Amino acid sequence: MGKDVIIACDFDSAEKTFAFLDRFTEEKPFVKIGMELYYAEGPSIVREIKKRGHRIFLDLKLHDIPNTVKKSMAVLRSLDVDMTNLHAAGTIDMMKAALEGLTREDGTRPLLIAVTQLTSTSEERMQNELLINASINDTIVKYAQNAKVAGLDGVVCSPLEAGMVKAACGSDFMTVTPGVRFADGEVGDQVRVTTPEKAKAIGSDYIVVGRPITQADNPVEAYRRCIREFVG
Ligand code: C5P
Repeated sequence: MGKDVIIACDFDSAEKTFAFLDRFTEEKPFVKIGMELYYAEGPSIVREIKKRGHRIFLDLKLHDIPNTVKKSMAVLRSLDVDMTNLHAAGTIDMMKAALEGLTREDGTRPLLIAVTQLTSTSEERMQNELLINASINDTIVKYAQNAKVAGLDGVVCSPLEAGMVKAACGSDFMTVTPGVRFADGEVGDQVRVTTPEKAKAIGSDYIVVGRPITQADNPVEAYRRCIREFVG
C-alpha cells in the first residue's frame, strides 16, 4: 500500500480553497474535503477539485439508519471521490449497506473507511456519557474489527492507535491518521499528536495534515516536508 499525505482543506469557501490549491504548481496533492467546505459549497466543489486532477477524500462521516446511508452513498459515488467515510458506531449492518450503496455497476468503488471513536472523545466521557463499559483502546479495536467484518478498507484513527489496529486487523487494513504535527511546530487544539516520521514508523498508511500546511508561511514547502518525512 502506497503511503501518502492528505491535506485537510478546512476552508469555508471555494475561493479560499482555490487560492490555496493554486500555490501547488508542480504537484497535485491528495486533498480532504470535510463538512465545512462541503456544506458551504455543495457537490460542485468536489467536481471542481476533481477536475483539477486531485485525488479526494470526502470526509462527511455518515451515521444514520442503513437504508438512508446506503442511498446517500449511492449519491456520493457519482461524485467519483477516491475515499469516503462513516461512523463505525452505526453498526456492521450500516457499514455493509454503505458499501452496497457505494459500489458502482462495474464493481469498482471509492475506498471506504470508518471513524472508530473520535480523537476528541476521552475515555472518561465515553464511559460516563455514552455508557460504553470498556477501555477506549478496546472500543477502538472492536470498532475496527467490525469495520473489517463489514468489508471496509480501514479506519480513521490517531497515529498512536495505528499499531494496535494493524495488530488486530492485519497490515493490509488501512489506517488514515490525523493529529500530525512537525516536531518543531504548534500543536493547536489537537491532543494526541505525533510527527510524520513517527506516524510512518507506527504504520499509518495516510496522514491527514491540516493547519501545519494550510497555515504555514510556505504551504508548498510544508507539504514537501511532510512528504519527505512520511513517504521518504
Ligand atoms: O489542522 P489539523 O492538522 O489538526 O487537521 C486535522 C484534520 O483531520 C481536520 O480536518 C479534522 O477535522 C480531521 N480529524 C481529526 N481527528 C479525527 C477525525 C478527523 O483531526 N479523529
